[in-house]
This record gives sequence, C-alpha cells and structure tokens, in this order.
Amino acid sequence: MSGKIIDGKEIAQTVRTQLREEVGKLSSNGIVPGLAVILVGDNQASKTYVSNKQKACAEIGIHSVLVECPATLSQQELLAKIDELNHDDTVHGILVQLPLPAHIQEKDVIEAISPEKDVDGFHPINIGRMMTGQDAFLPCTPYGVMVMLEHIGCEIAGKHVVVVGRSNIVGKPSGQLFLNKSATVTYCHSKTKDLAYHTKQADILVVAVGKRDTITAAHVKEGAVVIDVGMNRNEEGKLCGDVSFNEVREVASYITPVPKGVGPMTIAMLLKNTVKSAKKTIA
Ligand code: GUN
Repeated sequence: MSGKIIDGKEIAQTVRTQLREEVGKLSSNGIVPGLAVILVGDNQASKTYVSNKQKACAEIGIHSVLVECPATLSQQELLAKIDELNHDDTVHGILVQLPLPAHIQEKDVIEAISPEKDVDGFHPINIGRMMTGQDAFLPCTPYGVMVMLEHIGCEIAGKHVVVVGRSNIVGKPSGQLFLNKSATVTYCHSKTKDLAYHTKQADILVVAVGKRDTITAAHVKEGAVVIDVGMNRNEEGKLCGDVSFNEVREVASYITPVPKGVGPMTIAMLLKNTVKSAKKTIA
C-alpha cells in the first residue's frame, strides 16, 4: 500500500477562502476582525512564524497589529500591554508568541489574556471549556488536525487514537479533542515502555514529539492514518517531521507530509479563531 498524502496546504487554503467570505460579511456589518501579536525579543524562528501569521491575516482581511518588544521587557510591562489589548474593542484576538525570555513566566502571561480573546486556546479557562465539551477557543494545531481529518472524511468515533507526545500545546489537547469525538485514546511519551507495541494499535496515530524518525514503518499498523506534527531539520537542513515519511507511507492509508501538512492548518485555525471571536461581538 502507498498511503494517500493529506495536503494540508490545500485544505488550509480552502479554510482561508471560506474565512475570507466571512470576513467580507463582517466588514459589511462594520466589523473588521483584529489580531494583536506580541513578539518579545528577536528569536529568528519566532519572527518568521509571526510574519507568516500576519501575512495570512492580511490575505483574508483580518487587521493585524504587531507589538514588538525588546527582550529586556519586564513581565509587568508585558502584562500591562496585554491589559490594554484586553480592553481594546478593535482587537478580537491576542497572541503572545512563545517562547518568552526566561525572566517572564509563561503561565502568568497566558492567564493575563482575556479568555474571550485567547485565540491560541492556551488559557486554562479555554482548556477547561474544551475538556468539558463547552464552546471554547481550541488550540490551533490540534484543531487543525481535527479539521484535516474531517476534510478527508475520516470517522473518529470508536477509533483507537494513539497520541505520541504530551505537550500542553499539542499532545494533551489533541487526545482530548479525539476523546470528545468518542475515540479511544492512548497517550505515549518519553517514559512509555515499548512504544511500538502501543503505536501499532493505532487506527489514527498522531505524533508530536519534536524528534525526527521517532516513528518508522515498524511502529505503524497497516492502513493507519498517520498525522505528523513534528517540525525538525535533517542533516541537510531540510524541514522534516517526527515520522520516517517514505517508509511509513508504504504502510499507512493516509499520511501528512512535513512541510505542507499540519503547519499550514495551524495558521488557518488561528484565523478561524480570530474570526469566531469577532463574530461574537455581534451575536
Ligand atoms: N510558538 C510556537 N507555536 C506557537 C503557537 O501556536 N502560539 C504561540 N503563541 N506561540 C507559539
């Protein structure tokens, strides 16, 4: 079997086209969705991510504001900026790009963002809402994975989903979203014994560990759907995921590539959350 490639770039483009229409309708109601992005310091990777997010906003008509701050910014100053944005009616979404300099407590910053503007879905209120099945801003990468699977018509109820990785941003919430859709979920992580035993049970395998070639063909059941959330560089400096793509493709029924897999979906979901937040102002 040679698995079908799930084209995240194309699915993300479809989502963006729908969003552009929604933004057009909002604008005719006098509402321009606004996203404020706070970047602290000059981490090159963060700058690139932020610039991609802003370009995506511009493409669909979301007004984005970049708040650039020096790495020496104090936590108190950052919290004051967030407070200002929390009270700014032209701003529907606030995103503080992570990681932050070591002297700033990520937890305090995330908790300072109004849950109603937390388009990253990182605030404990949104995580709690998600866990209890309430309406919430869902974290963008796990949300993007679910939208991708929906797009290919992948049934989730009753499936065994194995999530490899337990980060707060991807692994943990991914498993929760699958549970909410009635999957049976197993989490694996760095302390898991016999990883292949568990991953071979998966109908849907989600891999988010940040280490290339973590999953080889020997880890995958014939016909499984494999979602690679990893973003790494190989020895030639090329982007690659956590899954050995060529060999796993021969076993899987569907597989996401890196790049052009989950990555573009993450940005599309950030836009979707921002539009959702803006819509709430007229609801
Ligand atoms: N840094 C890496 N990924 C993300 C993300 O999805 N959101 C934020 N705010 N920071 C990040």
